[in-house]
Amino acid sequence: MKSDKFYITTPIYYVNDEPHIGHAYTTVLADVLARYHRLFGQRVFFLTGVDEHGQKLKEAAQAAGQDPQAFCDRMVGRFLATWKKLNITNDDFIRTTSDRHKKVVRHILSEIYRKGEIYTGQYEGWYCVPEERFWTEKDLMDGNCPSCGRGVKRIAERNYFFRMGKYQDWLIGYIQDHPSFIQPATRRNEVLGFLNRPLGDLCISRPRKRLSWGIPLPFDPDYVTYVWFDALINYVSAIGYDTDDSAFQRWWPATYHLIGKDILTTHCVYWPTMLKAAGIPLPETVFAHGWWLIKETKMSKSLGNVVRPLELADRYGVDPLRYFLMREMVLGQDASFSEEAFRGRYDSDLANDLGNLVSRLNRMVASYFDGKIPSKGGRPAVNELVNQTLRTPKGVKELVEGLKVNQAVETVLNLIRRTNKYLEDEAPWKLIRVDRERTAGVLYNALEALRIAVYLLYPIMPSKMGELLDWLGVSPSAVRFDQDLVWGKLTPGRTLSDRGALFPRIGTKEIRVPIGKQIKEELQEMITIEDFKMVDLRVARVVSAERVPGADKLLKIKIDLGTEQRQIVAGIAEHYTPEDLVGKDIAVVINLKPARIRGVESNGMLLAAEDKDGVVLVTLDQPTQSGTKIS
Ligand code: ME8
Ligand code: MG
Repeated sequence: MKSDKFYITTPIYYVNDEPHIGHAYTTVLADVLARYHRLFGQRVFFLTGVDEHGQKLKEAAQAAGQDPQAFCDRMVGRFLATWKKLNITNDDFIRTTSDRHKKVVRHILSEIYRKGEIYTGQYEGWYCVPEERFWTEKDLMDGNCPSCGRGVKRIAERNYFFRMGKYQDWLIGYIQDHPSFIQPATRRNEVLGFLNRPLGDLCISRPRKRLSWGIPLPFDPDYVTYVWFDALINYVSAIGYDTDDSAFQRWWPATYHLIGKDILTTHCVYWPTMLKAAGIPLPETVFAHGWWLIKETKMSKSLGNVVRPLELADRYGVDPLRYFLMREMVLGQDASFSEEAFRGRYDSDLANDLGNLVSRLNRMVASYFDGKIPSKGGRPAVNELVNQTLRTPKGVKELVEGLKVNQAVETVLNLIRRTNKYLEDEAPWKLIRVDRERTAGVLYNALEALRIAVYLLYPIMPSKMGELLDWLGVSPSAVRFDQDLVWGKLTPGRTLSDRGALFPRIGTKEIRVPIGKQIKEELQEMITIEDFKMVDLRVARVVSAERVPGADKLLKIKIDLGTEQRQIVAGIAEHYTPEDLVGKDIAVVINLKPARIRGVESNGMLLAAEDKDGVVLVTLDQPTQSGTKIS
């Protein structure tokens, strides 16, 4: 029997990483599942957070010239802002530097130390800093980390070890007896394959004199806790293990730990053995999804090929981004990310199928029925459309419960397409001339199918679907799955306010700014409006321009600022001829210190954008008085 509570987690992301589409994916997926399970009437707890300790963090803080805690405090804002923008409804946000977390880590360490599960010994081996993982000599591939291919550090020192190896047989048995513990099945087999080789003990400490940034071991203050032994505990520390028994009993065991396949071993070998040693039941399911790839390679910060979710959300909207992520990845498999695919999906599903249905209905209700939802009319309510509408909520629920989110989305889109087809078949635009009552029935039916589709897409696109529910006069918050997602709940007579396009078509028009160009934003500070005002930007008209002899890229440009004329030098000769420029109104920084470029004096700097297709000048939309300040 299914329990009525649903506890879902994401990995806690390394706080020094810039959130990219990969992180956004896991978090949006968790959010979508949390929202669906709330819709199904379950009690839901959704946890995400950040991982703040370890060598990698320490090094990043050093590089930024900050002490680690201050660095974490600054960087955590990135994640919080991203989740806010993406409409993530997490119930809690755990930081591993918080007291509530550290307390539980110390408690668990003390407990298993007391039980004799931890001993001290000499450690010799290799450490991959980016992955925060230990490797043995024979694990290495060409002397590098076998998991990410990057360089490793030799480490030889006295350390504490967790007796993980002794749980090997138990763990194999557990995984075999609980087929749903590791999903999908390919990952379960991968873990079982890993467990075919002898499982060693786990080094769980770092000497403080080498790495001070971590949670001190409660039984030896000269050491800090290995970052994975610390981080995994977040899943129980956040819900009150050892501190709030009733909360812990209410939520544990987790329904799903959602992770990427990169962190399978830590979650399917370290974590269950840690829990076993501490006497805590295991989570129901660890689900490892695949990777978002960019042209066959994993998107990751160190490879510099990341796509930043906020850029996409700014350009196309948060909901289309959430939609694309959910529609495009088959859970468990890899998926490739391209802006082209994104735009295609947007236009076909959102602008065409869904957007058109809404605008058609909006138009017809406005012109035939004075903008009011028509009465059910003389159309028999039993037809294919009604049947499909009634089947859809149940189908979606089953697919979501089986983690087939992309299919769930497709099921709803099929209903939307079916509704469009229904309108084409019934042709209310012709029918209205001969049978007003029947036309009313057709539009009512289509609106009713739309209402149910919108409820079912609400977890994926909460903001746009919220608008639509509002438009239809129903509320997303008080919805009861079994009672409201049934036929005939729409109230006739309600006025549908005229609305604009839901998802304006992007079309094939090229958007010039390429995404995914990594901006090293984390090293830049924010500036104030005062700082910005120090830059004197003006409109200038190009009076004349000529090439600089011997310099292929440079143009010498004479500009008019209304009160004076000046000369500037700009590296745009490969993209603009002198004739292109004359007469243009451009944007120029005029309070830049004069400079000599290839011996030619330059008194200012023009603004331009560079993308993969070349350089584009910043110009004024309409003729503008030279010298006008730009602010
Ligand atoms: O591993 N495609 O944090 P992390 C899909 N702190 N998902 C991706 C992805 C991609 N290209 N790249 C990242 C850590 N992810 C540890 C976790 S948990 C106790 C500690 C997602 O910042 C995916 O969920 O490296 C992956 O598992 C996670 O980000 C890794 O985030
Ligand atoms: Mg990682």
